[in-house]
Amino acid sequence: MFRGIPYTKVSGAFDLTGKVAIVIGGAGGIGEATARMYAAKGAKIVIADCKDTCQEVAEAITKDTGAEAIGIQTDVTSQESVDALVAGTVEKFGEINILAAMPGFVDLYRAEDIDIACIEKHININAIGVFRACQAVANQMIKQEKGGKIVCVTSQADFIAINKHVGYTMSKAALVGMIKVCALEWAEYGINVNGVAPTVVNTYMGEKAWQGKVKTDMIEKIPAHRFAETDEIAAAVLFLSCDESNMITGEDLVVDGGFTIY
Ligand SMILES: NC(=O)c1ccc[n+]([C@@H]2O[C@H](COP(=O)([O-])OP(=O)(O)OC[C@H]3O[C@@H](n4cnc5c(N)ncnc54)[C@H](O)[C@@H]3O)[C@@H](O)[C@H]2O)c1
Repeated sequence: MFRGIPYTKVSGAFDLTGKVAIVIGGAGGIGEATARMYAAKGAKIVIADCKDTCQEVAEAITKDTGAEAIGIQTDVTSQESVDALVAGTVEKFGEINILAAMPGFVDLYRAEDIDIACIEKHININAIGVFRACQAVANQMIKQEKGGKIVCVTSQADFIAINKHVGYTMSKAALVGMIKVCALEWAEYGINVNGVAPTVVNTYMGEKAWQGKVKTDMIEKIPAHRFAETDEIAAAVLFLSCDESNMITGEDLVVDGGFTIY
């Protein structure tokens, strides 16, 4: 048993050869882009998502990259489902080295109108659901005694107030607090826990929240003058998933084209 996050000499290759990575929210959007980038770096992939297309996405990744990949349909609001994800991954690949946790839900209401059930739904998926997955995977990593990497996708909403995002912001702010405490507590097991905080990304969720005038106004406010693409967020998640970032833990890395500079 070691204590802390050990030094490993790195080359800048961001190599994941032989690592077993679970990507929750992996059946599309940023999650699928992350899984594909992990696969290209040599990882074995488990696509986990509440959608029933996990196995399909896994097979497409194997076909395109040659990486071993499986799909396990998972709902992060269910303990049974998350436990089955961990058990299924260990059964197939023997261990878990990386968790990228990015299931996400957003619904837009002003703070005076949103009902409490909608706030609870945000928190149940985006905060408690992500914690449930982090806890289950961390316990497996602790048992393995080899350390590990946990990366959660948070949001620019952690840093700046955004209209009609009160439920989403409450859930993502809770997630940032969770990342810091878990990073502090799990460093002694060699586990890094970090967040990646994107601006608007061109995905289903990005399009749901940003249409018409709010979209053009938002692009105007981003110094890069565009929304992000999924591979740009996946690249940040990859960095926080490999040995090159061993000395970074408890961080929430902003990928926002400068939106929160001000
Ligand atoms: N797109 C953006 O503009 C944006 C900006 C900042 C942060 N994010 C965050 O990025 C992450 C990925 O989102 P995306 O943009 O790729 O959108 P997306 O809608 O394509 O992906 C979210 C995925 O989460 C899955 N999911 C939802 N509830 C789940 C549950 N209970 N259990 C398991 N999976 C569940 C969905 O099925 C979906 O595949 C989310 O956490 C989101 O909050 C997105």
